[in-house]
Amino acid sequence: MKALVLAGGRGTRLRPITHTRAKQLVPVANKPVLDYGLEAIAAAGIREVGIIVSDPREMLQPDHRTGEMVTVLVNSQAEIRAAVGDGAKLGLKVTYIEQEAPLGLAHAVKIAEDFMAGDSFVMYLGDNLIKDGITPFVREFEAEKPDAQILLAKVDRPWEFGVAELEGERVVRLEEKPKAPKSDLALVGVYLFTASIFDAVRAIKPSARGELEITDAIQHLISTKRNVRSHIINGWWKDTGRVEDLLEANRIVLADLQTRIDGKVDDKTVIEGPVQIGAGTVVERAHLRGPLVIGAGARIADSYIGPFSAIADGVQVVKAEIEHSIVLDRSEIRDIPQRIESSLIGRDVVVTASAARPSAHRLMLGDTCRVELS
Ligand code: DAU
Repeated sequence: MKALVLAGGRGTRLRPITHTRAKQLVPVANKPVLDYGLEAIAAAGIREVGIIVSDPREMLQPDHRTGEMVTVLVNSQAEIRAAVGDGAKLGLKVTYIEQEAPLGLAHAVKIAEDFMAGDSFVMYLGDNLIKDGITPFVREFEAEKPDAQILLAKVDRPWEFGVAELEGERVVRLEEKPKAPKSDLALVGVYLFTASIFDAVRAIKPSARGELEITDAIQHLISTKRNVRSHIINGWWKDTGRVEDLLEANRIVLADLQTRIDGKVDDKTVIEGPVQIGAGTVVERAHLRGPLVIGAGARIADSYIGPFSAIADGVQVVKAEIEHSIVLDRSEIRDIPQRIESSLIGRDVVVTASAARPSAHRLMLGDTCRVELS
């Protein structure tokens, strides 16, 4: 049994964060989403993993300090390779498989055929997070030996997913992002396949959005009377494609946090609930109400950090209040009287008050940012 992890694609729904970073590396509780998937694969006893990565692309964006427009090479492939390496630290043997463009999930399967060399495999979408891992599903697949096995979960917005229609326990039809969904059962981004999937991906044509859809390939297996099992999962699962989903994932993961303090906390700071503070971080005159995590080398002073916050390495929060938010590396939040909440703040961002007159909001935001002021 091998694994195929999909870490290519564009990540349009998390822009602007994904203008400069692979969406699979956006952190949940200060750990990249992708790591949760790789750990789940390792925990299921799988060692050989193929990771689908895409080519670098050029983007024009403002330099936040000078305001000048600069061309940056967004190389999410290099970032993923740097973050995961050869996989040894997770007990995995990783092979990178380059996809020339995001031509669809079934296209990713197609280009992985040589790597699979006839073996069965679990396909894991790199932006999905399943809290309880995948081990039981892998064991079930190995025991029952179907041609393919899919996982389904009840969702509120089925039209955003692949949707399954069941008769009893049997899957009769699958449809990708249907306008009028026949059920509220979405395809979870974890699939188990035998080599029969390669014939199916060769048989299908690109969809209206121009992608080779894995949903169509599985539908092809069903139509040709192959044995496709389904399993409805009751545990927590999320496709972290949207900001709201990412914040929810952060909330779910932080709910199980254990306190661990490696940084320095002064005696004027009040700590409530589970809190993790990384090495080299200094906390002064603050109020920390967990569950929350603060990375390494950060500084929190005269501030309130509230529940379900994940503050990354090197962040500075001074005279500010923040809650239920994710703040990425090295950002600075300073002198903000109103509480910031339910926010995703990227890397190297500066949010600060200014005494300059006339008094006004002065913003320098990249494309597709979202700011809500009150
Ligand atoms: O999350 C579950 C859903 O994932 C399923 O319900 C849908 O049936 C399935 O099509 C998929 O839908 P999405 O629209 O969410 O897929 P997305 O384009 O976000 O791609 C999923 C992951 O695969 C993401 O980590 C990017 C990567 N990817 C995507 C494409 C299209 C690739 O590596 N290569 C690609 O060509």
